[in-house]
Amino acid sequence: MNFQQMRILDLRKELKKRGLKGYSSLKKEHLIQYLSTGIHPLKNTQKQRTTVEEKIHESSPTIFTDITEELPINQILSGDCLNVLKTLPDGVFDCCVTDPPFNMSKKKGLGWAFSSHITMQEQWDIFSKDDYFQFTVNWIREVLRVLKTNGNLFIFGSFHCIFTIGFILQNIFDRRIISQIVWFKPNAQPNITCRMFTESTEFIIWAVNNESKKAKNWTFNYETMKAMNNDKQMRNMWEIPLTPRSERKHGKHPSQKPESVVNRIILAGTNEDDLILDPFSGSGTTAVVAEKQNRKWIMIEKNEEYNQIAKMRIDESTYKLFEDNSNY
Ligand SMILES: C[S@@+](CC[C@H](N)C(=O)[O-])C[C@H]1O[C@@H](n2cnc3c(N)ncnc32)[C@H](O)[C@@H]1O
Repeated sequence: MNFQQMRILDLRKELKKRGLKGYSSLKKEHLIQYLSTGIHPLKNTQKQRTTVEEKIHESSPTIFTDITEELPINQILSGDCLNVLKTLPDGVFDCCVTDPPFNMSKKKGLGWAFSSHITMQEQWDIFSKDDYFQFTVNWIREVLRVLKTNGNLFIFGSFHCIFTIGFILQNIFDRRIISQIVWFKPNAQPNITCRMFTESTEFIIWAVNNESKKAKNWTFNYETMKAMNNDKQMRNMWEIPLTPRSERKHGKHPSQKPESVVNRIILAGTNEDDLILDPFSGSGTTAVVAEKQNRKWIMIEKNEEYNQIAKMRIDESTYKLFEDNSNY
């Protein structure tokens, strides 16, 4: 549904249909926001919080306290992250590093009539525009709830999704964006259509879990980054090749990230013993790097095949630490 193109009357009808209340005096932009998030745009956050908490307790038999020992530390939780996140308590993670679906797959793959070359064709990566927007609002809302105030959030994306993710962080949740990192892939695949530039970048949005004006005291290991960059300030353009074959030896994942990109994020934005979340774990790259850098982690992934790859990689990484961070 394209809310922007709907008349106020129809927006109100849609809210009514969804059982949402208190919309009669709202302006069009607020009606759209209410439909997109399910949260009343003008009611105070305390009230919204209670509603979210009520839902957690309804949907989950596990009621955690804030004691981190009770959390499933260093475990992969199998299932849909929208359900699994609801079983976790508020404000327990120091950081979230995640690589969500980009909504770039096509039912027949991204191919070309004159070539057998087919890339992304993953069911988990196919959404309508509106469904993708709503899905992104839903998982980001849950991640912000389980992250500590002023905790770091790093989200990967390509041009297919990064504007949507940025809009949601800035305009729906009013979170502070600290940086956008550009990951440049010097060995990216050529463009088979020859109708556009060769896609050779991905982006990482770094946001802090607080309202933009209130965000403070976020973790940034400036000196570590400088040391990794020949004693010069680390820039936000990282030239790092695609995932090497050696990191895929336990099985293939269509969008596995190189450990070296995730390693740089984790060293920049977390400290030893911090607890890191990745709700779209895939082949477990975030956990692999967290293990190697002495951070705690909780992963969520709905595909069992990917979880098996992740387990093998994590087991191996426990024994094989990065010997020299400067290589990454
Ligand atoms: C882009 S991949 C992550 C790849 C990962 N960074 C790696 O290095 O292997 C996204 C992953 O999210 C998973 N996924 C998609 N929707 C999900 C959901 N609602 N809950 C949990 N996992 C989901 C997919 O199965 C896929 O493995």
